[in-house]
Amino acid sequence: MRVLKSLEELRAWRAQVDASVALVPTMGNLHEGHLKLVDLAQQHARHVVVSIFVNPMQFGANEDFDSYPRTLDADCALLAERGASAVFAPQVSDVYPRGLAEQTYIEVPGISDILCGASRPGHFRGVATIVAKLFNMVQPQVAIFGQKDYQQLQVIRLMTRDLSLPVEVIGMPTERAEDGLALSSRNGYLSAAERAQAPELYATLEQLKSAVQQGEVTATAVSAAAARLTAAGFRIDYLEVRRQADLQPATEHDADLVILVAAFLGRTRLIDNLTFTRS
Ligand code: PAF
Repeated sequence: MRVLKSLEELRAWRAQVDASVALVPTMGNLHEGHLKLVDLAQQHARHVVVSIFVNPMQFGANEDFDSYPRTLDADCALLAERGASAVFAPQVSDVYPRGLAEQTYIEVPGISDILCGASRPGHFRGVATIVAKLFNMVQPQVAIFGQKDYQQLQVIRLMTRDLSLPVEVIGMPTERAEDGLALSSRNGYLSAAERAQAPELYATLEQLKSAVQQGEVTATAVSAAAARLTAAGFRIDYLEVRRQADLQPATEHDADLVILVAAFLGRTRLIDNLTFTRS
């Protein structure tokens, strides 16, 4: 497995690869959820490139950019075992040579400003920009993203379509711990007590899904779910039932729905979602 630490090294490697390439974009600190993305990528292309880049453009001023766990050596060991062809781990100065203030950016209108975008202004601008840059740098035919970041996946799908980028974007179902908690690098921030409370998030989504499927009024079911989360010690950022395609509020005519939640346990912000169909 090659570890490519600059754009120059990546371009030299990419120039001599003529088989298909799948990209798995990550910010590192890899867990089994990321490795499952690599497994899926291997089914779609001869070579898998995993990018590891903690992208400053998608972090707000008071967020965890500085403290975000950086574990490149351990990540590379896991990826070599899993059979990745290359890791692309560039420096910030390589990705943003003119600095962030003047950087050209990509913004997908509408969907970028709701839910996580409302709580984290500029976040999806940073995501769309880095993903477009990674597509241009790595030139993959396929790119794999986890559905845990459901809104991010929809932003990336729209960006790819709007800009006619020749990349097939594939979403991978969320990998969960045995108790239901969605795997995330940020789970590492939880104390032991918080980690014990955390599975309540997914359990509540499951209960809310059943209530909506059984025909309960959505607003009533959401209020009950919010009360359950609050009683379990969560501070809710949002808890919503939306349409899958554009994440707009669901009407009674919409069948393909997604429940989206962001909630704090202590200082840790957890997100999760559950897609389902209502008949
Ligand atoms: O989901 C992530 O890890 C990041 O948002 C991504 C897609 C790698 C862009 O920095």
